[in-house]
Amino acid sequence: MALKADDRPIGFCGLAYTDLDPYLPKGTVEIGWRLAHPFWGKGYISEAARDLLRYGFEEKGLCEIVSFAIPENTRSTAVMARLGMYRDPARDFNHPRIPADKPQLVRHVLYAMTRADLQAQRAKAGA
Ligand SMILES: CC(C)(COP(=O)(O)OP(=O)(O)OC[C@H]1O[C@@H](n2cnc3c(N)ncnc32)[C@H](O)[C@@H]1OP(=O)(O)O)[C@@H](O)C(=O)NCCC(=O)NCCS
Repeated sequence: MALKADDRPIGFCGLAYTDLDPYLPKGTVEIGWRLAHPFWGKGYISEAARDLLRYGFEEKGLCEIVSFAIPENTRSTAVMARLGMYRDPARDFNHPRIPADKPQLVRHVLYAMTRADLQAQRAKAGA
């Protein structure tokens, strides 16, 4: 991701296949992000992620996109909520690749959105 004004790199936001089977079944697509600290609080990730959700559903034909974080990462879960993703506690999971000395980072909460959710969101916004 780069600033429109001067093309300066500020972070990333992308879609990727998860590699967490059986916690998330093979073929699950996640949206993830990271932003350099000076650029937090300006809506850049929400803007990029909104475009990527549209791209994933409309141009790549995806049925569902998920995102996950530790519950304490409230800036990240706030982005998920702002995008209109919904929390799905039934799919929360213990991340299998967290080092043993960081047990506080194991539990992850999951948010999801389907193509139908995006269409419904659009219809509501247009109403
Ligand atoms: C997660 C992370 C990307 C979120 O960054 P962020 O700046 O909070 O997210 P956004 O860029 O979408 O900005 C949203 C903020 O900008 C504000 N904002 C300003 N203009 C806005 C606009 N036009 N649209 C949306 N939000 C706007 C929002 O109110 C919000 O601020 P607030 O939280 O103080 O209310 C960032 O905290 C980060 O990089 N963390 C470290 C890496 C990380 O945790 N990655 C995720 C791992 S799961």
